Amino acid sequence: MQATKRNMIDFNNLKFDFYETDWMFLSRYKDGKWDDGELIPFNSIELSPAACILNYGQGVFEGLKALKSKDRRISLFRPMKNAERFEKSAKRLVMPPYDKQRFLDAVKKVVIANKDFIPPYESGGSLYIRPLLIGSGPVLGIAPAKEYIFLVFCSPVGPYFPEGFNTVNLLISNKYTRASPGGTGSTKTCSNYSRTMRPALEGKKRGYDQIIYLDAVYKEYITEVGAANFCAIIDNKLVTPRFDGTILEGITVDSVLKIAERKLGITTEQRDISYKELFGDNCAELFCTGTAAVITPIGSITYEKRTKTYNNNIPGPITEKIYKILTGIQKLDLLDEFGWTMIL
Ligand code: PLP
Ligand code: COI
Repeated sequence: MQATKRNMIDFNNLKFDFYETDWMFLSRYKDGKWDDGELIPFNSIELSPAACILNYGQGVFEGLKALKSKDRRISLFRPMKNAERFEKSAKRLVMPPYDKQRFLDAVKKVVIANKDFIPPYESGGSLYIRPLLIGSGPVLGIAPAKEYIFLVFCSPVGPYFPEGFNTVNLLISNKYTRASPGGTGSTKTCSNYSRTMRPALEGKKRGYDQIIYLDAVYKEYITEVGAANFCAIIDNKLVTPRFDGTILEGITVDSVLKIAERKLGITTEQRDISYKELFGDNCAELFCTGTAAVITPIGSITYEKRTKTYNNNIPGPITEKIYKILTGIQKLDLLDEFGWTMIL
């Protein structure tokens, strides 16, 4: 059985799709406390139709990756940061936080138990790990559940954008927004993602790979891309939107800023970026960045009838340098002087 699931996967042609693995971790919260949780064979879970997650979307998640190095060591990238953000997200939806060390232990257990599903170094793939916390208890009035399930499952994945390290063409939406002040944009709630499906679909129909969302108040300032943060090279500086509470505070963009400053000597700025600036001559490169997206160069942007193409629609030189350093550290090809990688 175990060998069958694994043998059915073509590790050299993975997409960012769900492939079932052998093991998952599950813990339950009941009567005011979490049980110890355990590693169990991957399986469906049973939920009451009145479960809070199903009716009112009380759910948060994380995303991180395990990678195999050339010499077959297994590494995680800054996993404690995911544990911290998971706790912040849970608190926003009045869910009982899951202890950070136990989060990390559960992640490690799932990776080790499914280690045969980690794509080989040469394939360029990784094992995507999905910690999930859901309100499983029944409710009718709008109120937090009394019972919860914490789950960690995983799937081998290839690049999030099928283009890999190639440019994507993005549409700046003047119609839809992703998050608003006072909302849940800076946390990883499930509902933040369902609302981006229609804009993404409409964008795809028009030939765009994803949407760049503007702020919900002025519809002028860049926030982020559906599942990744946004960076621009403007006046030779690396600029990314200020975390104003509507943007997910990405672990990858934080790493990118540090790499730019400390390894490449590039000045960085976190500030409001008007979409109009991106059409100016001093804006030379754009990319988006996140766990799934890694570093994805943006070849063109369109706003209403205006399109601008960057670097003849090929990855820009600074984007490429940052990509090489970031992925080099993640895959253990380069010395990790930041102390970001955790070897299992
Ligand atoms: N923004 C959104 C909406 C995301 O879903 C993600 C992915 O997690 C990111 C940004 C990037 O965050 P990170 O680098 O921590 O993966
Ligand atoms: C990630 O990069 O982990 C994300 O959250 C993207 C995901 C929603 C596909």
